[in-house]
Amino acid sequence: MASITYDKATRRYPGAERPAVDALDLEIADGEFLVLVGPSGCGKSTSLRMLAGLEDIDDGAVWIGDRDVTQLPPRSRDIAMVFQNYALYPHMTVAQNMGFALKIAGRPASEIKQKVLEAAKLLDIVDYLDRKPKALSGGQRQRVAMGRAIVREPQVFLMDEPLSNLDAKLRVSTRTQIAALQRRLGVTTVYVTHDQVEAMTMGDRVAVLSDGLLQQCDTPRALYDKPANAFVAGFIGSPAMNLVTAKLTADGAELGGGSVALTREVIAAADGDTVTLGFRPESLEVVSEGPDSVPIKVDLVEELGSDAYVYGKLAETDAEGTKSNVVARVDPRTPPAMGDTVHLRIRPDELHVFSATTGARLP
Ligand SMILES: Nc1ncnc2c1ncn2[C@@H]1O[C@H](COP(=O)(O)OP(=O)(O)OP(=O)(O)O)[C@@H](O)[C@H]1O
Ligand SMILES: [Mg+2]
Repeated sequence: MASITYDKATRRYPGAERPAVDALDLEIADGEFLVLVGPSGCGKSTSLRMLAGLEDIDDGAVWIGDRDVTQLPPRSRDIAMVFQNYALYPHMTVAQNMGFALKIAGRPASEIKQKVLEAAKLLDIVDYLDRKPKALSGGQRQRVAMGRAIVREPQVFLMDEPLSNLDAKLRVSTRTQIAALQRRLGVTTVYVTHDQVEAMTMGDRVAVLSDGLLQQCDTPRALYDKPANAFVAGFIGSPAMNLVTAKLTADGAELGGGSVALTREVIAAADGDTVTLGFRPESLEVVSEGPDSVPIKVDLVEELGSDAYVYGKLAETDAEGTKSNVVARVDPRTPPAMGDTVHLRIRPDELHVFSATTGARLP
């Protein structure tokens, strides 16, 4: 087992204008489950492949434990990778697939057999050891791919969207199994996904990437409660946080026909005369019209049983001249109707304020 350090690690693909991964600084503790998350093309797989040795590192370094592995070939890095398309050998049985790396390494047959059996028990696939991959379901193949990584007893597991071939229900149960298994084995793991729910439920910490740049790396709770910038704020959470540009006033900001109070520090820290206000759907409450209420015209009500979400627009234009969309969670027993105007109040300690120019969180 080992810690992992990315030290200003950069990857520039030949001919590309900007680095795919730009001066990535990240420290992952021994035994930690770290999730890399971000939209398509943000550099998740490239970051993982740099760690695996499958991609050159053009600047900076990558360390595994106390070894600088920047120049080491993949086979010398002591890692095991699980890919999206399990890449099982079709002509081999499950047991042969799982034991293949050990066989190549010249380990005795008895040891291979024992390690494969141990891993198979852990993954509950003992009954399938003699089958070929084509005779397995997607979820079972996924577990075989995990088993193949486990038997190698590597210092580090790398997983690139290993659940994306599974249907929604199986994905939920398998992600719980993987997280539990990782905790039991205690092997440092870097896990890539574009699904923020997967990231939030599985990771000890979650690193959010955008355009090759690390935005924030923190516990799921901290990412949710204190996003470092408007990108993270909008990316983490479902339905997404409402983000609206608002004009500053002497003691707050104007918001679509209502007003919200801001502290003096926030107003002083703002650059320019507007800020970006962020508030989650669950941070809004329906109130009667008042000085700090914001009128919203209801477009659609989504009733989910336990919750109801109101999708609407600000009744008046915001600082950018648009009637921004707003989503609010409301009491499912008394939802408003389409076309209604409701007055919403943002719970004051649940308001996030970001610079309208840089997106950075204001104090
Ligand atoms: N071999 C390559 N040559 C040139 N450019 C590449 C190569 N691989 C990836 N890129 C580019 O580098 C950027 C990052 O790609 P990467 O595969 O790391 O993204 P990702 O975050 O894994 O995306 P996804 O969620 O779609 O898998 C993208 O703009 C991509 O087009
Ligand atoms: Mg990828």
